[in-house]
Amino acid sequence: MASGQQFDSDCITLTRFVLAEQKKCPSATGDLSQLLNSLQTAVKVVSCAVRKAGITQLFGTVGETNVQGEEVKKLDILANELFINMLTSSYTTAILVSEENEQIIQIETEKQGKYIVCFDPLDGSSNIDCLVSIGSIFAIYRKDSDTPPCVQDVLQPGRKLVAAGYALYGSATMMVLSTGNGVNGFMLDPSVGEFILTEPNMTVPKKGKIYSLNEGYQYIWDDAIKEYVQAKKDPSKGKPYGARYVGSMVADVHRTIKYGGIFLYPATSASPKGKLRLLYECIPMAYLMEQAGGSASNGKIPILDIIPEGIHQRSPIFLGSKDDVDEVLSYIKKYT
Ligand code: AHM
Ligand code: MG
Repeated sequence: MASGQQFDSDCITLTRFVLAEQKKCPSATGDLSQLLNSLQTAVKVVSCAVRKAGITQLFGTVGETNVQGEEVKKLDILANELFINMLTSSYTTAILVSEENEQIIQIETEKQGKYIVCFDPLDGSSNIDCLVSIGSIFAIYRKDSDTPPCVQDVLQPGRKLVAAGYALYGSATMMVLSTGNGVNGFMLDPSVGEFILTEPNMTVPKKGKIYSLNEGYQYIWDDAIKEYVQAKKDPSKGKPYGARYVGSMVADVHRTIKYGGIFLYPATSASPKGKLRLLYECIPMAYLMEQAGGSASNGKIPILDIIPEGIHQRSPIFLGSKDDVDEVLSYIKKYT
């Protein structure tokens, strides 16, 4: 840090960090850096829109439902348009998959690049109007084939990810990113409009003290989940865990990386495949969790080993500290 407490004349911005990563790989073309720059721009504008939503009449719905049958909020639309426009004009992508679009988005030939981006432009929509944290999630793959962009190109397991990350619009805005060499967190400094590396090498504790799930669905859980959650509250089985549930996956996962513990969105009898979407919610979060030293499973196999069959496919998810995920898996095994 140079003179003065407030200004670091040598701070590591997200752009600088990504460029340094790129230089470590001699064959890199710079396309991924360009793509991540376009994502950064989208995230900065979404962050700004989130902070001003109440003033700029961005709260509320547009009176439509999306592909998932959920009400579409004005901020959802804006965030989706930003992601699509910024990524399209980066000349680095061939296909986009958005939670808000029923079909894949094929990039016009002149603007095509080699990457595929799956994203949830604004996750946790039910929390928008009450000012609770929300986020954006993205997963980046390489297009493996030379054929014109098609759905098959997108259906790759998480093991093949090139990078993934999220932006959390919380009490501050933060971007958390992995390009396969660990996880790093960048805080948005609103005064200069740059993401600054504030959390290098994020790692999730091996075991935590928090469980996180929507307990209102207990009546439709499997017996294994009922018994596991009961055990987390039973003093005769060790010190009871604390309960935390924001209801925005990004916020719940961010807390889990920082403090440890477990986040669960299991299958229920009402939603036998769970609620969260594989391509743009479960896989990127599982990738980050594994990169941070934790784990993520669908109850049977690691999330990253699932071969997707559809772009809006759902999956149950158990992710967080390794010991905690192993423990819930042992309960599931007992009942199968
Ligand atoms: P969304 O993509 O429509 O915003 O839904 C996803 C959100 C996640 O952020 C969160 O983990 C989950 O839905 C909460 O669901 P529930 O309200 O059933 O607990
Ligand atoms: Mg979502």
